[in-house]
Amino acid sequence: MALNRRLIVVSNRVPPGSSFESQGRGEASVGGLVTAVRAAMEQSGGLWFGWSGRSTRRRVTTGPTVRLYGRIQLATMDLSDDEVSLFYLGFSNRTLWPLLHSFPTRVVIRHDTYRAYRRINQRFAQALMPFLRPDDIVWVQDFHLFHLGYELRRLGWQGKLGFFLHVPFPPAEIFSILPWASDTLSSLLQYDLVGLHDDRYVHNLVDTLNFKLGGEFDGENYRYRDDTARLGAFPIGIDPNSFKPREEGHAHTLENELGLADNPDRKLILGVDRLDYTKGIPHRLRIFERLLERHPTLGSKLLYVQISSPSRTRVPEYVQEKDQVERLVGQINGRFSEAGWVPIRYLYRSYAQSELAGFYHDADVCLVTPLRDGMNLVAKEFVAAQDTDSPGVLVLSSFTGAASTMKDAVIVNPYDIEGTAEATYRALRMPATERRRRNRSLLSVVERHSSQNWSDSFCAALQEL
Ligand code: F6P
Repeated sequence: MALNRRLIVVSNRVPPGSSFESQGRGEASVGGLVTAVRAAMEQSGGLWFGWSGRSTRRRVTTGPTVRLYGRIQLATMDLSDDEVSLFYLGFSNRTLWPLLHSFPTRVVIRHDTYRAYRRINQRFAQALMPFLRPDDIVWVQDFHLFHLGYELRRLGWQGKLGFFLHVPFPPAEIFSILPWASDTLSSLLQYDLVGLHDDRYVHNLVDTLNFKLGGEFDGENYRYRDDTARLGAFPIGIDPNSFKPREEGHAHTLENELGLADNPDRKLILGVDRLDYTKGIPHRLRIFERLLERHPTLGSKLLYVQISSPSRTRVPEYVQEKDQVERLVGQINGRFSEAGWVPIRYLYRSYAQSELAGFYHDADVCLVTPLRDGMNLVAKEFVAAQDTDSPGVLVLSSFTGAASTMKDAVIVNPYDIEGTAEATYRALRMPATERRRRNRSLLSVVERHSSQNWSDSFCAALQEL
């Protein structure tokens, strides 16, 4: 879509400058938000504003650093160590993240982290303001910056202002745990357009707005006092072409990576996740364990490769999760390994998109079983990477945003270990005709809801308001 205005994207995380220099080749992925926004920015050009990822011991007094990469101007700010620990590690990752993913018992409520979060939203707005021209479209990304729109309006910004939430929006009772729920919702209404992945999240947001503020929703616009925001579902996606199998074959294969002899009888199960408790990796390991218990004949024919990319490694809950996952891998491998066969290969590292494409292609089953996930792009990447003649099978948690459109996946409830183990067994034995039918249908969903489509439809809706 041709935007007739300059696009300004603001997100906490931005791609590292080095990834523009290498044109993204060989760079480990930094998550769905950055990948999808980057595709949009490369097409339309514009300004991308965010945190540099660097922190300094002293309070930051310098302004943003600006660099030009082709048509993208990248403006980044440093944060101080204290700000990173209160705003990013604290309020964003220990309060909002578990809250929005409906893990109420993990929510940490601290007034000092909330104050720091508000200060950073304010600082981002102050630093961004001088860059803005009246005709720009400003598109704010994700939960780190809920209040940025409010701060921009306070500073006098009257132009278009959109917001997209990359994670789920929880039910009203859960969101109300936040002592600052009403302020956060009022700030959301300062945006002209608020996008979520899925109608279920829009429904939760409307319900929460009704419960906490008491405005009115006409099916599209939410009105409360003098504020009106359009709310809508814009499911994020991937660029399917960057995962499609190559005619010359993939440079990276699981066989190469794991040093396995190519064995046509072997069945490969793959899991790819950031190491995050929302992904339910311990549940998945138990599912695999149950599969081995119930179907011992699968035995040495079966290999489960779990790729876990390091994430938020300074947040205590993530340290605990890593320990738990490693303990379980050790226990299951200790219990089932035989001479020449270790059932789980656990890889704690990040891979580039091109490497993952090869791994997905090799897998017979991909287990995408988060306990809660805004969308989940691994599900889409796996589908795009399949050989259409002999595709692998996607086993997908019903608690992902992806499950509402990817209905031809094998949909599971990951809390039900027994049931998911059986569903995985059926996926491993699924006849080729059935695998092809499901893959065709899933691929059409992935192509229809691409990253391109996501940004085009959001920007078009914002531009038209
Ligand atoms: O909000 C979701 C998300 O931004 C994903 O796009 C990404 O996978 C992840 O969170 C990255 O988190 P962080 O920026 O904390 O590393």
